[in-house]
Amino acid sequence: MRIVFLGPPGSGKGTQAQRLQEELEIAHLSTGEMLRDADHAGTPLGREAARHMQAGQLVPDEVVVGVVADRLSEKDCERGCLFDGFPRTVPQAEALDKMLAERKIPLNLVLALDVPTERLVDRLLARGRMDDNRETIHERFRQYDRLTEPLLDYYRRRGILCMIDGEGTPDEVFSRIRRAVDTAIR
Ligand code: AP5
Repeated sequence: MRIVFLGPPGSGKGTQAQRLQEELEIAHLSTGEMLRDADHAGTPLGREAARHMQAGQLVPDEVVVGVVADRLSEKDCERGCLFDGFPRTVPQAEALDKMLAERKIPLNLVLALDVPTERLVDRLLARGRMDDNRETIHERFRQYDRLTEPLLDYYRRRGILCMIDGEGTPDEVFSRIRRAVDTAIR
């Protein structure tokens, strides 16, 4: 099973992907986490990524695609994986298609979390991560609208997009996701 989690900043991608990973026992690939780990490790890639992340901008496609390609080659991805925060641009989606086609594995489902913007801002300000301040949040939403939202149509055309109401408690959202996954598996 290969599943992509799409959604604006704060929509619950990480929270829900973590839960689904535990249930399906497949790998969880969060590009945000991978880039933050590289930053904490002080690698050149991490330092470059941090500059973009602190400004609320996307890290260049070729950097992120390289990180995902390396991770996909690891053993635990053979059973399946959840892509959390990747792809975020049409070129990234095309690169993912290519990587999966080379491995002769399909992308089964794209779960798009839908939450009103004002709720998202409250969630992010309450969390207070390094990039959760008003100015950076505003830029992250701008990047989402401009570069990531077109992916909804990209995957809708492929017939694998499932919109999920992301409001309510994490448990409520998870039961909607579980139903969507069960339907896709059947
Ligand atoms: P990333 O780490 O992916 O951040 P994001 O997309 O902005 O998403 P968040 O982590 O803020 O939110 P989320 O949707 O995962 O929600 P979460 O579960 O955490 O990326 C960070 C940066 O890295 C990007 O800005 C970019 O620079 C770079 N990057 C990453 N991937 C990239 C890519 N592919 N290409 C280029 N650049 C890339 O929840 C948020 C908060 O809400 C938490 O506190 C949580 O506890 C709470 N919460 C969750 N669900 C609920 C609920 N149902 N009710 C109430 N609170 C909730």
